[in-house]
Amino acid sequence: MTTTETVAAFAPVTGFDVERIRADFPILSRRLDGDRPLVYLDSANTSQKPRQVIDAMTAHYEQINSNVGRAVHQLGDASTQAYEAARVKIAAFINAPDPSEVIFTKNASEALNLVANTLSWARGDYEVGAGDEVVITEMEHHSNIVPWQLLTERKGATLRWFGLTDEGRLDLSQIDSVITDRTKVVSVVWVSNMLGTVTPLETIIRRSHEVGALVVVDASQAVPQLPVDVTALGADLVAFTGHKMVGPTGIGVLWGRSEVLDALPPFLGGGSMIETVKMEASTWAPLPAKFEAGTPPIVEAIGLAAAVDYLSAIGMDRVAQHEHAITAYALSRMNEIDALTILGPAEAVDRGGAISFELEGVHPHDVSQILDSLGIAVRAGHHCAKPAHKRFGVQSSTRASFYLYTTSGEVDALIDGLDQTKRFFKVA
Ligand code: ALA
Repeated sequence: MTTTETVAAFAPVTGFDVERIRADFPILSRRLDGDRPLVYLDSANTSQKPRQVIDAMTAHYEQINSNVGRAVHQLGDASTQAYEAARVKIAAFINAPDPSEVIFTKNASEALNLVANTLSWARGDYEVGAGDEVVITEMEHHSNIVPWQLLTERKGATLRWFGLTDEGRLDLSQIDSVITDRTKVVSVVWVSNMLGTVTPLETIIRRSHEVGALVVVDASQAVPQLPVDVTALGADLVAFTGHKMVGPTGIGVLWGRSEVLDALPPFLGGGSMIETVKMEASTWAPLPAKFEAGTPPIVEAIGLAAAVDYLSAIGMDRVAQHEHAITAYALSRMNEIDALTILGPAEAVDRGGAISFELEGVHPHDVSQILDSLGIAVRAGHHCAKPAHKRFGVQSSTRASFYLYTTSGEVDALIDGLDQTKRFFKVA
């Protein structure tokens, strides 16, 4: 049972005005059934959007809307400039050396599929063939498992993975025998969407590069929560998505070192990605167009640029500090609940703001439904991470996830909701 004596107090980040931030998010003031305030604890699934992002997208549709890179009129020019300015902004946000290394995709899944597919078609240095190995981890999102299964099956290569410790951290004890001279690609998540675990990327990247393997990072939960500098990171390719970082759905990013992207064949064929097309054969446009066939997600890119402006104005250091403070508080309170087991690190050390848990004897969907009846939105299910659930002997879990607009009061509401759930299901 939770007692106020044993629970650590919330330690707010000095000068981080969460109420002021919340005022920017129209949806956070809506009320749900029973006139209950919305307690949104599902930001790892998708984040909410501030008015600044919604307004930037509306303004583009109202004043500029036109296709990019092909319309020779004022609107077309303005739309192209806004789209390319978005690319420049996003490159600066992740400290990419060159905006042409920023490829817009539909989402992180598409970005990862782009990499796995083009590697399966590559010839030369990046070719993956029979006898080669691809290394992932047991805590990957399905979008960083399935594309590699498809690749290795197609090419007669072998898929290997790092297991997890009981605490939910990567077991790197066998790193030298998992990443070997046979390894061509190492593709790892930065921050787990299920366990919250932060991967020790430096160690993995160093070992991968020692053996000449390409490093791909799924940064879908990292870019929203942490200051990210792809130049300092040293990975070769980094994928993330817009909708988890206060941006719109329908836009993802693949950043890659130009040397790697230049060497890979195109992913999708069509307009915009060509240099010339003849009936016999075609040649490709330079980066980034080579990987952006067809009309791209124009307004979504502009929305993502507004999201980047929004987060930058607050400061990613401060976003990370708030996320850490909220997660530490939530963990301290959840650790006090009998019959509740946290899947993943129970301490807020090298840990992101997603907490998956089991409430003994209560199905996660039932937990979620009771919480929903109280206005609290969490996710129930396998969170697209079935192998990580299997590792902990469960089919599914309930997950609460936090972001820059989450308050300690919302964590308290979750704890009360879990107490009510326990009482309803007569959990001891
Ligand atoms: N990948 C998203 C999640 O973790 C959808 O919930």
